[in-house]
Amino acid sequence: MEAHESLLDLIGNTPLVRLRTPEGTGAPVYAKLEYLSAGGSVKDRVGLRMIEEAEKSGALKPGGTVVEATSGNTGVGLAMVAASKGYRAILVISDKASTEKVATLRAYGAEVLVGRGGLPAEHPEHLFNVAARIAEETPGGWLAGQYDNPDNPGAHYASTGPEIWRQTEGRITHLVSCVGTGGTISGTGRFLKEASDGKVRVIGADPTASVYGGGDGRPYFVEAAGHFRHPETVEDVWPKSFHQDVVDDILPIGDRESLLTIRRLAREEGLLVGGSAGTAVAAALRVAAGLTPQDLVVVMLPDSGKQYLSKYFNDDWLLHLGFLDGDESLPRVGDALSGDRREQPLPYLHHHSTVGRALEALRARQAQGDDPVLSVGPCPIGPGRQPAASELVGTVSLEQLAAAVADGSAAPGDLVGDHLAAPLPQFGAGRPAEATLAELTERGLSSAVVLYDGYAVGLVGPAELRALLKD
Ligand SMILES: Cc1ncc(COP(=O)(O)O)c(C=O)c1O
Repeated sequence: MEAHESLLDLIGNTPLVRLRTPEGTGAPVYAKLEYLSAGGSVKDRVGLRMIEEAEKSGALKPGGTVVEATSGNTGVGLAMVAASKGYRAILVISDKASTEKVATLRAYGAEVLVGRGGLPAEHPEHLFNVAARIAEETPGGWLAGQYDNPDNPGAHYASTGPEIWRQTEGRITHLVSCVGTGGTISGTGRFLKEASDGKVRVIGADPTASVYGGGDGRPYFVEAAGHFRHPETVEDVWPKSFHQDVVDDILPIGDRESLLTIRRLAREEGLLVGGSAGTAVAAALRVAAGLTPQDLVVVMLPDSGKQYLSKYFNDDWLLHLGFLDGDESLPRVGDALSGDRREQPLPYLHHHSTVGRALEALRARQAQGDDPVLSVGPCPIGPGRQPAASELVGTVSLEQLAAAVADGSAAPGDLVGDHLAAPLPQFGAGRPAEATLAELTERGLSSAVVLYDGYAVGLVGPAELRALLKD
């Protein structure tokens, strides 16, 4: 019979498909379609291998519980394998992950705990710490720990690498992959280097803000790739699954380029893939451009775009964050910012500033005729470091703070972060100015934050928008 005894036989063995490359691109680029694995991502391999090795070592026993903190795909891999083998699964997932991912995990019967993403590593509620606690407290609990588990890169050394070597008949010269836990690039890359006597070059594709490629670790929008560093994380520990010695180069790719790449892949090549695949393909095309037809590039496409329909493939989401430029024939919100203004840091205070310091800054703004309001967040900002949309956690205004001090509910020495009002509304730079002015007026708002590529680049108010519309 042409049939499989278990779904687990359908993990991995994914096809390679040639991508269309721009005229003049030196080398062919083949995409490894990991979304065609049984659970829909590169992480099925890792879920299966980690569970099977834990069974062998006795760390996971019959009736046991699989626990993990995961951005989603490893959760699916683990939940699918756990369901198929009869284990309970508890997954801790960030509130920043897409709703589709959470729903998928629940559909597999996993128990999902949605925790706060974006906390410093030392925080007891950091997802890793929550998962470790649950594994310890649950009888028969086993923490998969993909960030440090050697069976994560081990899965790729044992399967992804050999598949690529076989599929390309040993002709691969360059491997391009995103780096999240580092498992894919480390295991696959190591195998390919060994098989080719060190000839295959291994290139990481990394969100520009990620620390792996030299970014400062500020938040970014491509899920599951790269490494975020919270500004209050004391010691930034990189995963043991990431073997830096295997990687020859890391190319930083901006979120906009990654997201525009996957939209193009879907529309022009019929490949519906996730954001990290866009990061990897953008890097692969750059790599291929400098090569010859004798070279051969393989790029990893980790998962499907179906999980991100409400984000990366949703024009409203993209426009809101400033990833789309909008209708150029109409005045747009971003046009209200002058060049100078864009280079000025956003009126902003760190959440550890004091109320007294905030009052001084607010009075100074008022004296200059500016709206006496400041955004507040956990990140340091300055030239080249704008806060990401998610880092603007609240505001203080002169009126609100002065009243709080007057009625005794705030003292000048208090942390400003303890006296916040709701954050200012945010609008993408490409949004039409007219509709935005109408919205500000209707909601009685005097200022809004302008976002470009997900970062705050300035403030606009009704006066600036009106002036723009008059021009
Ligand atoms: C969509 C997606 N892209 C990229 C990665 C990064 O892969 P790795 O963790 O093997 O470095 C992951 C890992 O979870 C992922 O889910």
